[in-house]
Amino acid sequence: MSGSVLEIKNLHVSIEDKQILKGVDLTIKGGEFHAIMGPNGTGKSTLASAIMGHPLYEITEGSITFNGEDVLEMEVDERARAGLFLAMQYPSEISGVTTSDFLRSAINAKREEGDEIPLMEFIKELDETLDFLEIDKSMATRYLNEGFSGGEKKRNEILQLMLLKPEIGILDEIDSGLDIDALKIVSKGINKLRDENFGTLIITHYQRLLNYITPDYVHVMMQGRVVKSGGPELAKRLEAEGYEWIKEELGIEDETIEQNA
Ligand SMILES: Nc1ncnc2c1ncn2[C@@H]1O[C@H](COP(=O)(O)OP(=O)(O)O)[C@@H](O)[C@H]1O
Ligand SMILES: [Mg+2]
Repeated sequence: MSGSVLEIKNLHVSIEDKQILKGVDLTIKGGEFHAIMGPNGTGKSTLASAIMGHPLYEITEGSITFNGEDVLEMEVDERARAGLFLAMQYPSEISGVTTSDFLRSAINAKREEGDEIPLMEFIKELDETLDFLEIDKSMATRYLNEGFSGGEKKRNEILQLMLLKPEIGILDEIDSGLDIDALKIVSKGINKLRDENFGTLIITHYQRLLNYITPDYVHVMMQGRVVKSGGPELAKRLEAEGYEWIKEELGIEDETIEQNA
């Protein structure tokens, strides 16, 4: 069924009493690809962490709802079960848990008890997706992210995304540290998910990812707010001209949070 909606309204977030987000408004619906761009230190990762419920991030004002339900009332695992997914900018290494075991547990955590994915079905789907993403099969039996290269970690996030099939995927700098071939593969994975039941928020520092994934909407974040929104042409202009013109247009001197806390 289509119709997923993640709605963020006037979101204010602080970390250790430092105000980071200062009124973010954003609505992502099933089928929509949104990109958030912006220089470093403007609050992009904070937004992703706040949506997923990272305990460090305190919501001081505003709301996040998913399909009408209050996300801020949900535990982290409930958010995942509800259909939200976060690919982190810096994925954690989990020693002692293989990638394959992790994936199977994550899939089963989203299913009803007694309705676990049959092992053969899981293996088939895992194998097909590993092939699709051109990931070496041996990765499935290695401990999650342990000793993975930057590129392998990013591919692994897309592997999770494809197997878990969330309604909304938040991808934080999924392109950072990727060479051009890996970038194409990661993009291929994300594009394969494009349908009316899947919406995504792609957080990126660079326009180049958006040469492979065409966003429907592009937002620019500065000073802990979305300061400008547009279509794919906005990303093109950012690539050509950088962020200066936006700062001039809006009278922003320093785009980061540090100077504006
Ligand atoms: N765990 C943290 N503790 C203290 N400050 C933090 C923490 N995480 C982020 N910040 C601060 O919040 C601001 C925004 O960071 P972040 O959301 O990571 O920006 P971006 O992802 O846009 O580069 C920065 O000033 C950063 O120093
Ligand atoms: Mg970041």
